[in-house]
Amino acid sequence: METITKLSRSVKGLSVLVTGAASGMGRATAHAFADEGAWVAVTDFNAEGAAAVAKEISDAGGSAKAWTLDVGDHDAIRRVIAEIVAEYGGLDAVVNNAGIPAGLPLEHERYDAVWDRALSILLTAHQRIVRAALPHLRKSKSPRIVNIASTEALGATGRDSPYAAAKAGVVGLTRAMAVDLGPEGITVNCICPGPIRTGMTQLIPEDDKNTYARRRTALRRYGDPEEVAHITLSLCLPAASFITGAIIPVDGGLMARNA
Ligand code: NAI
Repeated sequence: METITKLSRSVKGLSVLVTGAASGMGRATAHAFADEGAWVAVTDFNAEGAAAVAKEISDAGGSAKAWTLDVGDHDAIRRVIAEIVAEYGGLDAVVNNAGIPAGLPLEHERYDAVWDRALSILLTAHQRIVRAALPHLRKSKSPRIVNIASTEALGATGRDSPYAAAKAGVVGLTRAMAVDLGPEGITVNCICPGPIRTGMTQLIPEDDKNTYARRRTALRRYGDPEEVAHITLSLCLPAASFITGAIIPVDGGLMARNA
């Protein structure tokens, strides 16, 4: 009997740009793609961290190269994307992952500064990277964009409004881009991670992490970066060609649980 599978379930030979790839979910995503045979552009504003991750991957037999990229730097975005395309001969997928914490009370004297930084790094950067990558994604046979938002985009925690607003913006941007780029077959999806053990959460004491996870998630635990990276990778498979504009919590059931 003829197989019904016509679409590739592999990212082998595809090139992917991951932002914020020196740590946490970005690092895990870079490893996941490289393990499956993709060419990975490991980018981060932490140059040493990006170089270390590219080396880890190369030492393990994968294909990766590091670029220093501050996603808040418009000119650098264009330059680095041109360099990645020159190195890998094209660009098939973009993972907008770089992020910073940006929580503080409404009355805080630094509120405006934190707000501006949050929107710049967590939201504006996403559209700039996508717009710079678009001419190259248009040449790909399976162009994919994955934006990393947060469950904070779907329900807010106290004293976190700049972060929550920026992440909610990523959800809106994902839907709008999916609609704009859908006619060209470019998919744009958004992952909303819940509590994940990364650099961003490493200062939260272990007991507090466990208490929170038991109280809030269905799985009663924090997630590991790899558990998010696998969903990102799945959304970038050539076979993931009919999912776009989706907002996907990867949160251990946090959004599913009322009590
Ligand atoms: P992380 O702190 O381990 O990694 C973030 C990476 O982004 C770091 O390597 C950092 O150097 C890089 N970065 C920060 N500012 C940058 C800039 N301007 N340009 C380029 N790179 C920059 O944190 P994590 O958790 O892996 O964060 C990844 C994404 O996941 C972020 O967008 C974050 O907001 C989001 N997220 C994290 C959650 C968690 O529980 N850890 C939950 C929900 C969302």
